[in-house]
Order: sequence, then structure tokens, then C-alpha cells
Amino acid sequence: MEEANKSVFNDCFTSAMSLTDSGVSRVPTRYILPPSERPMLGSSIDTDAINLPVIDLFHLHNPLLRPRVIHEIEMACKGFGFFQIINHGISSSVVKGAIDAATRFFDLPADEKMLLVSDSFHEPVRYGTSINHSTEKVHYWRDFIKHYSHPLSKWIDLWPSNPLCYKEKVGKYAEATHLLHKQLTEAILESLGLETNYLQEETKEGSQVMAVNCYPSCPEPEIALGMPPHSDYGSLTILLQSSQGLQIMDRNNNWVCVPYIEGALIVQLGDQVEVMSNGIYKSVVHRVTVNKDITRLSFASLHSLPMDMKVSPASKLVNENNPAAYGEFSFSDFLEYVSRNDITQKRFIETLKKNNL
Ligand code: OGA
Ligand code: NI
Repeated sequence: MEEANKSVFNDCFTSAMSLTDSGVSRVPTRYILPPSERPMLGSSIDTDAINLPVIDLFHLHNPLLRPRVIHEIEMACKGFGFFQIINHGISSSVVKGAIDAATRFFDLPADEKMLLVSDSFHEPVRYGTSINHSTEKVHYWRDFIKHYSHPLSKWIDLWPSNPLCYKEKVGKYAEATHLLHKQLTEAILESLGLETNYLQEETKEGSQVMAVNCYPSCPEPEIALGMPPHSDYGSLTILLQSSQGLQIMDRNNNWVCVPYIEGALIVQLGDQVEVMSNGIYKSVVHRVTVNKDITRLSFASLHSLPMDMKVSPASKLVNENNPAAYGEFSFSDFLEYVSRNDITQKRFIETLKKNNL
């Protein structure tokens, strides 16, 4: 039965990369967005007009200067749920190695990549295209390989064995990202006035899913997207992009292009932080545009508390004036939701909000 399902899925699966390689001059009808959802390239707010935060983490480890960095993090989390970081401690050779391995993976022949294909959101390693290819109305111009990444030794054997360097190069990046996420989580909790050891064990034992995304050049970027508007389910996402393409929604519901900064990484707050902070911080809604000229790669390292742990508003942030504004949820609950629902119609976090919001 499993096998039969798989082959039906395989038969109707065309990757964005195959479409680009075949030289299509138009996107197939299934990729065309309704006019109201199109990216209107060139008209989103000019990045000079709005200063998206870039935070230098160099002083995070200096007890005297740390409070200043924590304050910057607090402002960015309140204002955007998003910031870029520099001096984050991950070396450029580790970053380049990961991008190189991913480029080689996506350049493999389709048959080779198909060995890892699955349309199940519960599969720990899976190759696919778009978001939910078998159920969605519109497809997105994106291929991906996603793999569980923490603890590395538990999952790495299931990762792609081709190209040969993949496990080592992407493994190094995944470990470095996990360490960075622990430091960022401590800083974010501190910025909320919570103890730095709050949820420390759970953060260490939490899950890390690495989504490696490939957005090949697209013949009609004005009417398609690489990813629809969404927020990430976890606590935070650390994103590495090879070129510009990400847009975030600001507090006035305008789309803002995130500039590409050489060597920087992007931090995005996810739904678990919104719930845990009782809405003091909001997860950032973002989407991905595509372009006519180059293939864009990104690594979205999605960190969350352990798979089955229910996350709820921190008791220190709940009181008579600020009652709990969200119900609790776990990563597993989210997976159930995305398997059954169209996230472009209703965001998961909306289902958790209580009436008092
Ligand atoms: C994601 C995501 C953004 C990007 O994988 O959840 O939002 O730029 N990726 O690829
Ligand atoms: Ni995302």
C-alpha cells in the first residue's frame, strides 16, 4: 500500500528545477497566483525607507556590554519578530561548505533525488517540491530537502549520501546552528525578563529541522512565489540565504524585502515564542519571491521545543491584567494541522488564540 501511494505521488511530481531545466517560457497554470496574492515585484517597501534591524552579536559574551545587545534584541523582536545577525560565530567556510553541498544535491539527476521523496510531513528526511504538492490549489516554485538534525548522530545516517560531502558539510553547519540557537534563545528569554535557565533543558533536547530550499530561476516571477505567506511553527528559525528573495510583513501589513548581507544570518521568531511570550513577541509572517536570473538557495534551521512538549504562555508573563491569550500546542500538533489544512487559508497560530485577543 505504502509503495503504491509512493508511485502515484512520484508520477505526478515535477520539480521546479525540472521545469526550469526544460526551458519553459511560462509557468504552468498551477503556479499562477490569484491577482491579489501576487508579489507585485518592485512595489514592496523600499529597504532604505525602513531600517530592518541588524544586530552585532560580538558583545553578547561580554557581561558589561551584553545588556545593550539584549536591548537591541528586545526592540527587534517587538518591532518585527525578525533581525539579521553579524559576528554570530559561524565561520564563512562552514557556511560555504553547506551551500556548496546543497547546490550539488539539487544538481543531481531527478531519479537520484526521488529516492528521498515523500509527501508525509512526519517523515524525518524528505525531498519534495512546493508546500503540500498533493493537496494544494496553487504550487510554489520551490524544491526542498528537509531533515531532522538534532541530535545529529540520531539522524545523519538517513541524510542524502550523494553528494559524498553532504553529511559532513551540512552536518557541521547544523551543529554550529544548534549552538547558536541556544545562545539566541537565552538572549530572547532574558529580553522577556525570564530566567536564562527557563526551558534550558527543553531547548537543549528540542528538535531541529533543517529545510534546505532551492528556488530555481523562474520565467514569470511576477505571478508566482517560492513560498506563500506563513509563519514558522518553532521557537526560532535561523535562516541562511544565498541571495535576496525573502520578504517579511511589517506591523503595518506591508511586505518588506530583506536585503542580502554577505556573511549575515537571519533570525525569525516562530509561533512557539509568540505563545510562550503570551503575545509580547509575535512570530513574523514571511514569504519568498523568485527571480528570472539565478537559482537561490536557503537553509532554514527550524528550532523548536521537543516534539511532544506542549508550549504555553510562561506563567511569569500571565497575570490578572494579561490573561493567557493562547492555548498550548506542540510541534506534533502543528504537523497534524499542516497535514490536514491549507496553511495559506488559515495560520496555525490563529487556531490557538483565545477570545481575549
Ligand atoms: C521556510 C522559509 C525562507 C527562505 O523554509 O520556512 O520561510 O528564504 N524559508 O527560503
Ligand atoms: Ni518560513
